Amino acid sequence: MGETHQRRFGWKDMSPFLKGSRLILAIGLVLGLVDAAAQACVPLFFRYALNLVQVNPGAFVERGMVNMLLVGTAILVVFLPAAYYFHVLTMIGFMRFCRNLQVQLYRHVLRMSVDFFQRYQVGEINARLNNDVEAVANGAGFVMSLVWAPALLVYSLVMMLWIDIPLTLICTAMLVGIALLTVLAMPKLKEWNRDVRDASGEVSAVVTEYVGIFGLLKAYSREDFAAMRVETKSDALLLQREKVARWQHAFTDSMQTLTRFVAPLIILFIGAYWITKGRLLAGDLAAFWGYWLQLSAVVQGLVFTFSGMMSSVAAMDRLCAFFAEQPLVKDPEIPLPLDGCRGGIELRDVHFRYPLAESEEGPVLRGLNLKIQPGENLALVGPSGAGKSTLLTLILRFHDPDSGAVLLDGQDLRAFSQKELHAEMGIVLQESLFFSGTIGDNMRLARPDADDAAIWAALEAANAAEFVRELPRGLDSVLGERGAKLSGGQKQRLAIARLFLKDPKIVMFDEPTSALDADSEAHVKEAMKRLFKDRTSITVAHRLSTVKDADRIIVMDKGAIIAEGRHAELRINCPLYAEFCARQAGV
Ligand SMILES: Nc1ncnc2c1ncn2[C@@H]1O[C@H](COP(=O)(O)OP(=O)(O)OP(=O)(O)O)[C@@H](O)[C@H]1O
Ligand SMILES: [Mg+2]
Repeated sequence: MGETHQRRFGWKDMSPFLKGSRLILAIGLVLGLVDAAAQACVPLFFRYALNLVQVNPGAFVERGMVNMLLVGTAILVVFLPAAYYFHVLTMIGFMRFCRNLQVQLYRHVLRMSVDFFQRYQVGEINARLNNDVEAVANGAGFVMSLVWAPALLVYSLVMMLWIDIPLTLICTAMLVGIALLTVLAMPKLKEWNRDVRDASGEVSAVVTEYVGIFGLLKAYSREDFAAMRVETKSDALLLQREKVARWQHAFTDSMQTLTRFVAPLIILFIGAYWITKGRLLAGDLAAFWGYWLQLSAVVQGLVFTFSGMMSSVAAMDRLCAFFAEQPLVKDPEIPLPLDGCRGGIELRDVHFRYPLAESEEGPVLRGLNLKIQPGENLALVGPSGAGKSTLLTLILRFHDPDSGAVLLDGQDLRAFSQKELHAEMGIVLQESLFFSGTIGDNMRLARPDADDAAIWAALEAANAAEFVRELPRGLDSVLGERGAKLSGGQKQRLAIARLFLKDPKIVMFDEPTSALDADSEAHVKEAMKRLFKDRTSITVAHRLSTVKDADRIIVMDKGAIIAEGRHAELRINCPLYAEFCARQAGV
C-alpha cells in the first residue's frame, strides 16, 4: 500500500536517448553559425561592388570584378556546404534522438503492469507514441532557427552599425515594430489553427467510429444517418478553415506589404536623401536593403519559432510525465529461481481493491482463503461481479493484493520474477486474441523456437489440427486482426493449442465456452480436459456442463468464498449453487 506509480523524470533523464547523435548535433549547430556568418556577408558583397562602381568605375572594371568573383566563390564554397551540413546533420541528429525516444517509449509501455492501462486509454498511449514524438521531431526545425536566426541577426546588426549607425537604429526600430505586430497577432492565429485541428480531429474520430460499425449501420439501413453526422462535422471544419484562411492572409499579406514595400521605401527615401548629403554611398543603401529583407523575415520567423517551440516543449513535458510512470507490480531485486514448479496455489486472507476504483466502492476481494493442490482441477462459479476474473488476475500477478498474499508452491508470488512466473501460467479468456500473422506465428508466440511438428502436436491435442489442415495454406494461413476469419470455437481451440505448446504448470480459463454453442463447446471441453491432465487448472464458468466434473467447485459471492465441494454436495448444501443449477435446464 502507499506505493506510488510515479517517479521523477525530467528532460535530463532523456539524455541517454541522444546516444549516437550528440556529436552530429554539435557539429551541425556550429555549422549553423558559419552558415549565418556567410549569409550576413552577402549584402556587404553587393555594397562593395556598387560603391566601387559609383566612386571609381575604372577600378571596378580593372580589379573589382576579379576580386568580387574570388570573394563570391569563397562565400559560396563556405556557404553551400555549411548550410547543407547544418541542415542535414541537425536533422539526422534529431531524428536519431526521436527514434530512440519512440523505441524507448514503447519499451517503457511494455514494462508497465496492468494498472497502467487503467490510468491510460489506448488512444492516449497512441498519442504519446506518435503525435508527441512527432511534435518533438518538429522541434528540429525550431532548434535550427534558434541557433541560426539570432546569429544572423547579431552578425547583420554589427555590419549595419559599422556601415551607418543612424540608419541601423531606424531599421532596428522597424524590426521591433514587426516583431511586436507578429507577437500581437500570434495568439489569435494559433487559437484558430488549434480550432481547425480540433474540428479535423472530430471528423476523423466520427469517420473512424462509423467505419468500425459499418455492419450495424448496414443492418439498420442507417447509412444516411452516418453520412449526415460526417457532413455536419465536415461543415464545422470548413467553417473553421475559412476563418483561418481569411484572418491568416489578412495578417501575412499586410505584413508582406509592410516588410517588402513600405519599409524598403522608407529606407530608400532616407538613404537617398543621405546620399545627396554625401553621408552614404549607393552601395551602403543597397546593403541596408539587403539586410532589411533578410532580417525582417528572420524576426518574423523567430516569433513563430518561439511559439511553435512551445508545442515541442509541451510534448517533451508530456513524454517526461509518461516516462515517470512506473508499474505497481514490480520484480524483486533478487528473484527466487522457479525451477521445478509444482503448481500449488494458495491465497491467504487476500484483500484487494482495483488501483483506480472510487473509494466508495468496497473492496473486490475481502479476505479470501483458498488452497489449491498441485494438479487439482478447480472450478469457480458465482454471480456476475463476484470477483472471479479478479481472482485469476491476482494469481497471474497482474495486480498485487492490498493485504494478504498469493503463494505459489508455498512462496509469495512477489518473490519470483514475473517472467518466470508467467512461464508457468497460461490463461484462455472468453474471446481469445491473435495478432495479424499466420497461424504458425501465433502459435510460436507461446514458444518461439517450436518446429512445425511440435505445433501440429499441440494442435492435435487441442482438437484444432483438423480444421487447420483443411485451411488452404495450413499453418501459413494468415489470421486477420483479432483472428477474424476463424469461428469462435476454432479460436478457443487454437488458444488451447497455444497453451499445449507453452506447457505451463497452471492453466486458467475465464468463461472459455460462454460464447459457443453446445457442439463447439464439446470440442473445446475435450481439449481442455486433455490440457488439465498433470496441471493445476482453474476454470471460471457460467455453464454447469463446463464445471460439474471438476475435482472441487468453489462458489464465490461478493468477493468471498461462500462454499466449496463437489457438484453433488453443493447442490444440497449451497442455496446459491442450487439456484445456479436450477437455472440451467437439463442438468
Ligand atoms: N478494471 C477494473 N477496475 C475497477 N473495478 C473493476 C475492474 N474490473 C472489475 N472491477 C470490479 O470488480 C468486481 C469484480 O469483478 P470481476 O470481473 O472479478 O467479476 P466476475 O466475477 O468475473 O464477474 P463476471 O461473471 O461478470 O465476469 C466488480 O464489481 C467490478 O465492477
Ligand atoms: Mg469475469
